[in-house]
Amino acid sequence: MPAAEPMQVRDAIRDLPASRIAEISALGMGDPAVIPLWYGEGDLPTPDFIGAAATAALEAGHTFYTYKAGLPELRSSIAGYLTGLHARPTGAGRIVVSSSGMTALMLVTQALIDAGDNLVIIAPVWPNIAAAVSIMGGDPRLVALDPVPGGGWRLDVERLFAACDARTRGIFVNSPSNPTGWMISAAEIAALVACARDRGLWLIADEVYSRIVYGNRPAPSFLDHAEPDDRLIVINSFSKNWAMTGWRLGWMVVPPDLLPVMEKLVEFNTSGSPTFLQHAGIVAIREGEPFITRFVARCRAARDVAIDGLQACRRVEVARPEGAFYAFLRVEGMTDSLAFAKEALARAKVGLAPGSAFGPAGEGYLRLCFARDPQTVAEAIDRLRTVLD
Ligand SMILES: Cc1ncc(COP(=O)(O)O)c(C=O)c1O
Repeated sequence: MPAAEPMQVRDAIRDLPASRIAEISALGMGDPAVIPLWYGEGDLPTPDFIGAAATAALEAGHTFYTYKAGLPELRSSIAGYLTGLHARPTGAGRIVVSSSGMTALMLVTQALIDAGDNLVIIAPVWPNIAAAVSIMGGDPRLVALDPVPGGGWRLDVERLFAACDARTRGIFVNSPSNPTGWMISAAEIAALVACARDRGLWLIADEVYSRIVYGNRPAPSFLDHAEPDDRLIVINSFSKNWAMTGWRLGWMVVPPDLLPVMEKLVEFNTSGSPTFLQHAGIVAIREGEPFITRFVARCRAARDVAIDGLQACRRVEVARPEGAFYAFLRVEGMTDSLAFAKEALARAKVGLAPGSAFGPAGEGYLRLCFARDPQTVAEAIDRLRTVLD
């Protein structure tokens, strides 16, 4: 028999890095002794009333193909929801429903990135956006936030702009940030909007954590500042707000002129999001506010347990995040976060994500997801003392 030919896949796909988070979870998955804080999701199931709405929609026969941009009723409820939250109204004609926030990111890179183009991305960052750019043959150009004493992060807007060149198609901002919890300020948003107008760049704002905030102020949003015709795409998801990670349902806000483009891309990617799930999405938005309030309160309590405990560890520097549900901790003397996360898993039986999964600026850090009941988080911190003290 002739020797097997190597798999002939595109270079960009062959070269995609494996997820370092998955590398850790593969080691501990299924071990009941492990407290798994490696992924970006909580332990609460989807609220019953949302599940019941999906079941009712199935039983009512909503099992057929539907509109590419999403059910008109869902697009209207998303538009109403956003208009209620932000300083400027968002019309339903700018909403595209997608099969998750991740799919929205992929659709955006398909629409904007040619081989050789780059996207400037504020980092440390959830690795999937860089992968989406790479899949299109583009160059994900990570620009790191500056760490500030005490564990916080600051954006150097001038350095961000200086990283843009003739092949830059846009700037990607995730705020509140996974993994750092950093939140962009209103002034920084205004500067980015002005720069994008000036230089003809796209702004891609990933606001999936916009409701998961702990201070008195809502997370500043690009939807508070931009005009409908600005080259702005805001990505959002049902996953985090309503504990719906497994549903794969999200949306984006686009300029009206981009709507037909996105409809075309939806056709060739998924041909639309599952109809009965979209019906449940309407109910999640209409009746889900008390759930969000309870969920955020629980995350706040868990955050305080996590941060108080971590700050008491000798080798740890960590800030109290204002948004999202991650502690991003710097560990003194740690140079290989992947090896350290493996050690934490083996010795403390706690699953953490290595900071290097979020770009080079994340090396030296670990990410802990605290979207759990505070007692479990307290137990995890207790166990981690053996490796962090
Ligand atoms: C920053 C960020 N954006 C987007 C997503 C995508 O969420 P989903 O694909 O579940 O809608 C996630 C999920 O972890 C995320 O952390």
